[in-house]
Amino acid sequence: MPRHFLRDDDVSPAEQAALLDLADALKADPLGNKSLAGKTVTAIFEKNSTRTRFSFEVGISQLGGHPVIVDGRSMQLGREETIEDTSRVLSRYVDGIVWRTFAQKRIDSMASVASVPVVNALTDEFHPCQVLTDLMTIRERKGKLAGLTLVYLGDGANNMAHSLLLGGVTAGMHVRVVSPEGFQPDQQVMLDAKHRGTETGGSAAVFTDPYDAVAGADVLVTDTWTSMGQENDGLDRIGPFRALQVNTELLKRAADEAIVLHCLPAHRGWEITDEVLDGPASAVWDEAENRLHAQKALLVWLFEQSGR
Ligand code: CP
Ligand code: NVA
Repeated sequence: MPRHFLRDDDVSPAEQAALLDLADALKADPLGNKSLAGKTVTAIFEKNSTRTRFSFEVGISQLGGHPVIVDGRSMQLGREETIEDTSRVLSRYVDGIVWRTFAQKRIDSMASVASVPVVNALTDEFHPCQVLTDLMTIRERKGKLAGLTLVYLGDGANNMAHSLLLGGVTAGMHVRVVSPEGFQPDQQVMLDAKHRGTETGGSAAVFTDPYDAVAGADVLVTDTWTSMGQENDGLDRIGPFRALQVNTELLKRAADEAIVLHCLPAHRGWEITDEVLDGPASAVWDEAENRLHAQKALLVWLFEQSGR
């Protein structure tokens, strides 16, 4: 049976730690592992992408594999071929499927019949490759994860908020989400994160006041207020969010050595100021680089786990 990575809690706390160790090792020796030699991995995009697309293509090549990068809108999938039939066919050609799509249930359908590992490269609900990378970046800067307080400010119902809740608590972190009324995390995701916390000592909490939430925090994370696909959803995605901007004044309330993450692309002057994004607390460029290392680790590990 193939192992898939569809959401952050698809790996146990011990497996997540092993993945992060492997990511560090691959960063130290980027061309030393050729375990994808002779293997083909496809990455399919139904939404725009810069980091995910390039980091998967480069990473698969560095591991000796062959990447097949496709705009999903040009596939028969875009003309009503079913996800399941697409998955059955792709499984006959490639050794792994990476997919950026819309609803999580679409990637669940892909994985349900795939005979090769399926990786979530972002859905409306989760962005687990990004959060694996964020954890790698935090550990690089702080030397640990368990016990740290991470505050996410923004749309609490989006993919980053949900993945930070699941992935952060799996790492034993205390994850606080600050979001406006009506943009709060999915109740089931909160319950799943809290459940993970009973195993790891981590915790998940929702805050309304950004200044309360960031007091003494080790890591601040933000993201766009309007995710891909939400451009015309009719909701006010500016007014209620203004108070959540990550700026110098807010950062002063965090711990002295606090770091700031943003998955990018950033909307400078909206969810984050230039001063913070380009300032000393920002770890965003290392974070962007680490997509490459973390995803290479994920592919190597998933193939090992799947006996491929
Ligand atoms: N952070 C991230 O996933 O970036 P892209 O949308 O450019 O892939
Ligand atoms: N929440 C953002 C993340 C982009 C990488 C989106 O889904 O558009």
